[in-house]
Amino acid sequence: MRDFPLFPEGASTLAGHVDALFIFLVALTAFFTVLIAEMLLYFSLRYRREKHPRPVQVEGSTVLELTWTIIPLGITMVIFIWAAAIYFYETRPPKDAMEIYVVGKQWMWKTQHVEGQREINRLTVPVNRDVRLIMTSQDVIHSFFIPAFRTKADVLPGRYTSIWFRATKPGTYHLFCAEYCGTLHSGMVGDVVVLEKHDYEAWAAAGADGSLANQGEKAFQQYGCAMCHRADTQGRGPNLLGVFGKPVLLDDGRTVIADESYIRESIVNPAAKVVSGFKPVMPVFQGQITEDELVALVAYVKSLGTGQGNPPLPVTSPNGVYPVAPKNEPSQATPSGK
Ligand code: CUA
Repeated sequence: MRDFPLFPEGASTLAGHVDALFIFLVALTAFFTVLIAEMLLYFSLRYRREKHPRPVQVEGSTVLELTWTIIPLGITMVIFIWAAAIYFYETRPPKDAMEIYVVGKQWMWKTQHVEGQREINRLTVPVNRDVRLIMTSQDVIHSFFIPAFRTKADVLPGRYTSIWFRATKPGTYHLFCAEYCGTLHSGMVGDVVVLEKHDYEAWAAAGADGSLANQGEKAFQQYGCAMCHRADTQGRGPNLLGVFGKPVLLDDGRTVIADESYIRESIVNPAAKVVSGFKPVMPVFQGQITEDELVALVAYVKSLGTGQGNPPLPVTSPNGVYPVAPKNEPSQATPSGK
């Protein structure tokens, strides 16, 4: 699915497809509205009482009935197949898409690039590049909406949702929260800034405070994860090297893919899906850790999976005591923090 020659592509590759389908639906509706209104008028004049005082009884017509069945069936199938094609295009991100993490909270959007740039109420992306957003909420349900790209998805507490787009024109576009989320919902707005490749590279090179995976590595050490998730096979938790994106056998015999959602769940609620051969001894981090830290930890585990990250530091003398999750610092515990 690429261009429809009749319709310009718009601000993203998806926009042209959505617009074309929408215009088709409007045109179809308008056509039948006008047709039916005209027929109504025509028949009420043609068969008015003065000319036809006695109506003729019609006993049915197979040809007519087949016609008014097959034509609507054909039309709805066109709509169905067309819309399904757009849906599949929209919901399946390309493999090599650039990944950006998004955290919604009352009432702002926080975006984090894998290279380390963080933004608030702003998302800076390069033009003509597939971008996949991995989104979650720190509190209530929000919805991430970029009207110009015709893309929108709910952002939910406790899980990751994902959308992708490819911006085709440099510029600044509206970003909205499209789910009522409290007093300042209407103020939960921002900008999506699409830059030319070299402008984006200049932007990305300036002001990164360590990559997201590096921040995750710090959190990994700080929370004592490295005590048990060791790079050798002696740890009390699974070795995380090369795990990301692979199937994982669980102790109840099921197999899950170690994606972002699984990594996140295994941090906040480790007992939910325990890896085969391990005991559910890991402490629960629910409420102990911010979404920002979770995003960084997920990025770190992901970097271990692709072999780009530093392996967990070996712990020379594990004392056998499982580290207790540290309490949040006051600055992180307040809702307005960070
Ligand atoms: Cu967030 Cu509405």
